[in-house]
Amino acid sequence: MTERSVVRLVAAVAASDGAGVRLKRVIGSPAMPHCDPFLLLDSFRSDRADDYIAGFPPHPHRGFETVTYMLAGAMRHQDSTGRTGHLRAGSVQWMTAGRGIIHSEMPEQTDGLMAGFQLWVNLPAADKMQEPRYQDIPPEAIPEAEVAPGVRLRVVAGEAGGLTGPVSGIAVAPLYLDVALAAGARWQAAVRATHTALSYVFEGTADIAGTAVPAETLAELTAGDTVMLAAPAGAVRLLLIAGRPLGEPIARYGPFVMNTQDEILDSIRDYQAGRF
Ligand code: CO
Repeated sequence: MTERSVVRLVAAVAASDGAGVRLKRVIGSPAMPHCDPFLLLDSFRSDRADDYIAGFPPHPHRGFETVTYMLAGAMRHQDSTGRTGHLRAGSVQWMTAGRGIIHSEMPEQTDGLMAGFQLWVNLPAADKMQEPRYQDIPPEAIPEAEVAPGVRLRVVAGEAGGLTGPVSGIAVAPLYLDVALAAGARWQAAVRATHTALSYVFEGTADIAGTAVPAETLAELTAGDTVMLAAPAGAVRLLLIAGRPLGEPIARYGPFVMNTQDEILDSIRDYQAGRF
């Protein structure tokens, strides 16, 4: 068994996306443009309607997956196939955009707290033009348990603490855990040794493999089978995310992520021609 340690810390930076939603960008900023297979991680948390009310009006995606995990508040999702969905506190939507989708995500509230995350997960070259696919998972379908004293897990994807997450059939075999540690608690998480692994702390100051990681900070981890998470200085909440690195070239233009510049130009042409 090899214990993972922290390679480096990356502080989330203030950003704005959609029609002016204020958020914190964790992956996808100059400090960490991507971390194969992860292309973007945004954290949104505000109880000021002005920060989120403009939402994310219709916009396209091609070539990757968007994962929206809600902690608080509610959004309505609509897309170019006529599908609608409700994103509510504790739910996750794992959208495999594949060859292309146009969707919107708009707040279903005009006041109160809105909080959650959006993660972009790359698709292997062979899957980038697959049919779009959704997994809309309601809160009650995400297994949650106290797996050690003071350690409460929600398993969105992958396996941990004897629980299996509901998201299935994802190319990079992801692990996506929401971990709450009470003050003084510690827990050793198992992660596939060769997978990229990251932890984003969003409440309190965690101790990750001996490194203090303050809130709104991402810890990139070395390779290894396990990682020790602890909360020596008060309660902590963090995401632990892992996935198989693809090792393929990345060509990126806004909401299109392909392997070559030619494929990006094709994507722009297809979108402009209404082929999404
Ligand atoms: Co989107």
